[in-house]
Amino acid sequence: MKRRDMLFGLGALGLSVAHRDPVALFRRLGRSDAFEPDVELALEAAAGDVQIRSGARTRVWKFSGRVLKGPTTSIQTHVDSFLGPTIRLRKGQKVRIRFRNALPEPSIVHWHGLDVPEAADGHPHLAIGPGAEYVYEFEVLNRAGTYWYHPHPHGRTGSQVYQGLVGMLIVSDEADEALALPRGADDMVCVLTDRTFDAQNQFAYLSGGMMDRMHGLLGDRMLVNGTENATWPLATRAYRIRLLNASSSRVYKLAWDDGTPMTLIGSDGGLLERPIEQPFVTLAPSQRADVILDLSQRATGTTVRLRSAPFTASEVSIDEGGMMGGMTGGMTGGMMGGGSGRGMRGGMGNAAPDGPVPNGAPLTLVTVNITRREASTFRMPTRLASYGDAWAEVPNAPVRRVALDFRAGQWLLGGKSYDMLDVAPDEIVRAGSTHIWEIANVGGMMGRQMAHPLHIHGTQFRVLSRTRPADATSPENSVREGLIDSGWRDTVLVMPRDTVRIQIRFTSYTGLFLYHCHILEHEDMGMMRNFRVVSA
Ligand code: C2O
Ligand code: CU
Ligand code: CU
Repeated sequence: MKRRDMLFGLGALGLSVAHRDPVALFRRLGRSDAFEPDVELALEAAAGDVQIRSGARTRVWKFSGRVLKGPTTSIQTHVDSFLGPTIRLRKGQKVRIRFRNALPEPSIVHWHGLDVPEAADGHPHLAIGPGAEYVYEFEVLNRAGTYWYHPHPHGRTGSQVYQGLVGMLIVSDEADEALALPRGADDMVCVLTDRTFDAQNQFAYLSGGMMDRMHGLLGDRMLVNGTENATWPLATRAYRIRLLNASSSRVYKLAWDDGTPMTLIGSDGGLLERPIEQPFVTLAPSQRADVILDLSQRATGTTVRLRSAPFTASEVSIDEGGMMGGMTGGMTGGMMGGGSGRGMRGGMGNAAPDGPVPNGAPLTLVTVNITRREASTFRMPTRLASYGDAWAEVPNAPVRRVALDFRAGQWLLGGKSYDMLDVAPDEIVRAGSTHIWEIANVGGMMGRQMAHPLHIHGTQFRVLSRTRPADATSPENSVREGLIDSGWRDTVLVMPRDTVRIQIRFTSYTGLFLYHCHILEHEDMGMMRNFRVVSA
């Protein structure tokens, strides 16, 4: 009850800041009166219900959208799903989005992966109360790629996303279109989420209480595009599948069950320079992967499944290993929730309703049935994109060490916890400047080291290197081959005891932006910080 009051108070604060002097705020956030949008959309977040399982409908929170101006294809609705409409934009478009909050609590929307002005980035201090509207205006500067949107009110992001507030945002540009990649109905989205249902078919959030919060929420059912036991009838053609991990804390080790390599063409920030084939793709919360599934050589009547292969997600530190013996997590130990004694189920996670499926447990996600023969003319391009100078190493860039740590019951970022408007001296950067961050995963709770996906707003960065512990028991070994470090990223997975060096070119917009762990429960608990971009 206290917590609830506090959160409503927070929203009210956001509101009062926003309404005290709207014109001043408008100016401070760098908006101009002269904005002429090419595309104008209305987006609403509201309660609703969908038929997910047989029996009772599931109450959800859902985005719905409408095109007010511009191409009607800018919004694609997903029927019978909590998934918000897929927003399709083109690079260079000026976009206005009128967001209406029809929820019973404060909210604000963030366009994950896009480089937009402070006023359009969905910072929690801009959260609006029930019934209010927030107008976003931005120009699409990003490369073509798979981005997404979700709420970002402080302390409530995990719960709002869990209730269904998730949508894809796909950007196209000339370079992408010139490649003749699968398009139209052959360009598919694949949004991975996990949920726990109660006996009345309702989403149960954090049923495991504080331990769920500390470890991040893990569900017991996999939903793909909001559907349980997803089955796709496809033809003998090539498909572009845009994978998004929209789960609170689950990492996926994605592979085809018949040993077909994953053919990867894009990551968070758009197309790779050239396609790469990997046995599997490691996808952390909020990360995206574009893959091509070429079924042209397959026989009709056959099946291929997208699965998550087993891996080790966390580890027990040596000194406490004896005490916490049962909590190795991942595929090996499988005891979750503070050693509550729930064993992991063998096979896929869609079986028994006896608690969360551990991170790292094997899962079946999509069953692709090849049902029709259709001619395919698809040829995989050998080159996809050119990164140019932006990818080059900047030798003299300032280096900052950012520890991912756990102390006194808190997950910390650079030794600090979130504070709405607080910015430390080393969190101030010049617009458009390049920095190197060394993200070191040093902390663990109760002897348990976790992987953390670190996300930075308003930028796509480059992973320079990873340093992992020298011993063979490092959990990174079980996912290493699937990490996509050759593409632009806005989120990097930092495995237990690993240090990842990234090179970041910060946004050229000035203002207050966020970086945080994208395990949504960690973010809500304060494993998040601001950085301030000041004029160059
Ligand atoms: Cu996807 Cu700050 O978030
Ligand atoms: Cu983001
Ligand atoms: Cu975390």
